[in-house]
Parts: sequence; structure tokens; C-alpha cells
Amino acid sequence: MPCGKHFTGRLARSTVPGVKILLIGASGLIGTAVHKTFLDRGHDVLTVGRTSGDLRFDLTDPEQVGALYAAASPVDAVASAAGDVPFKPLADLTADDFRAGFAGKVLSQVELVRQGLPHVSGSFTLITGVLAREPIVAGSVASLANGAVESFVKAAAIEIAPRRINAVSPTVVTEALDAYGDFFPGMPPVDLADVTQAYVRSVEGPLTGQVFIP
Ligand SMILES: NC(=O)c1ccc[n+]([C@@H]2O[C@H](COP(=O)([O-])OP(=O)(O)OC[C@H]3O[C@@H](n4cnc5c(N)ncnc54)[C@H](OP(=O)(O)O)[C@@H]3O)[C@@H](O)[C@H]2O)c1
Repeated sequence: MPCGKHFTGRLARSTVPGVKILLIGASGLIGTAVHKTFLDRGHDVLTVGRTSGDLRFDLTDPEQVGALYAAASPVDAVASAAGDVPFKPLADLTADDFRAGFAGKVLSQVELVRQGLPHVSGSFTLITGVLAREPIVAGSVASLANGAVESFVKAAAIEIAPRRINAVSPTVVTEALDAYGDFFPGMPPVDLADVTQAYVRSVEGPLTGQVFIP
């Protein structure tokens, strides 16, 4: 916050009103809250899902990611709240489970960035999660996927400027405790309202290469 006798101007608003955002997973638990927050902040949001949203594409298919950008380009920002991974004890996981988790959360989001470069002028925001830093039983595919996406974000950031890229890495959200709370014993949950602010920070703020932990 500027202070002192030399500051004479008015602070500019930090928001970037009216940017066009492609939001993947807008019908999901996190995506619904992020969608509402973006709309409340005056952004123009195009929603994407396999079976929901303004545009219907499956991010696990690189050809469909290309078709998505052909339909939506140009956009200012891309925000992802989508990424499916299987949850099973390690001894029960098959090679196909790992492939499915890697395709569902890592390669899908990598494709959003790789193919998005010619179409996106502002920022990419990807979703990861607490399991990148604190594992739970039966969560090894999610841990692998989240860690991979967070490493990718740091690597991509040094190559895509002036575009920016960040990850949002929540713990279990309060609103999902009924469904998943037993898997996170003693771990404090985070409210969806705080998760949405991490997306706002990524889209509207200046930082890149960050993992935002709401
Ligand atoms: N819930 C939590 O407490 C929590 C905490 C930390 C991290 N996360 C992570 O946040 C992400 C979203 O979680 P959520 O609980 O909000 O999930 P969710 O309620 O199951 O919603 C997932 C959303 O993503 C879309 N989607 C999924 N796969 C897609 C694909 N291949 N292509 C296009 N759209 C796809 C779905 O729409 P369609 O079905 O129409 O495709 C849906 O809109 C996940 O990666 C999860 O691991 C969640």
C-alpha cells in the first residue's frame, strides 16, 4: 500500500473487469462457485464440460481441446476446475488406473496450455490439490497428478510470458466434507469462497508460476 508524503495519486483498482474467461468444469463443485464469482466480478465466462456448459468437449482428447479453441478463440484467460483421478489403495491400482489419472488431470490440463498458447493472451489457471504435499491413503494417483501439474506450471511460466500460469491447490473443501471428510482426518477444510479467491488472484493479479494454496 503506497504511503507517505510522496504518494499523491489514486490507487488503481486491481481488478481487470470484463475479461473473457474459458472456464472448464463450471458445473462441478468448485467450478460452480468459481463461475459465480467470475460473473459477479463482471467477467464474460464461457463454460466447458463433457456433458455440461456452453461448449461440450472432453479435455482428455487432444483433438477435442483443439476443437474447443477453434470454437472459443480468442480468450483472455483459461481457468480449469476439472480433473478426474481414480482413488484406490496402491495395491489395487492397475497400470490403466495410473494412465487414466494422468490423462484425466495432467495431460488434459497440459493440452489446455500447450494448444492454448496461440489463443490465450492473459493467463492459465490450473487445478491441483493438497495431495501434492500431504498424501492420504488411496490417493497416490491424485498425489502424482497434482505434483506433476504443479511442476508443469513452474516450468511453463518461464516460457510463456507475457502470458501467466498458476495452479490453485486447495485442501478438501468444507462443502465436500460429507462426501470426502473421512479421507482427511484432522485436516482443516477450506471454504469454497476462499478457493474462488485464489482463482481471482490468479486471473486478475500479476503473479505467475505460483501454486496458490487457498
Ligand atoms: N472437491 C474438493 O474438495 C477438492 C479439493 C481439492 C482439489 N479438488 C480438485 O478440483 C477438481 C474439481 O473438483 P470438483 O470436486 O469440483 O469436481 P466435480 O464436482 O466432479 O466437477 C468436475 C467438473 O469438471 C468437468 N470435467 C471433468 N472431466 C472433464 C473432462 N475430461 N473434460 C471436460 N470437463 C471435464 C465436469 O463436467 P462434465 O461431467 O460435464 O464433464 C464438472 O463440471 C478435481 O481435479 C479435484 O481433484 C477438489
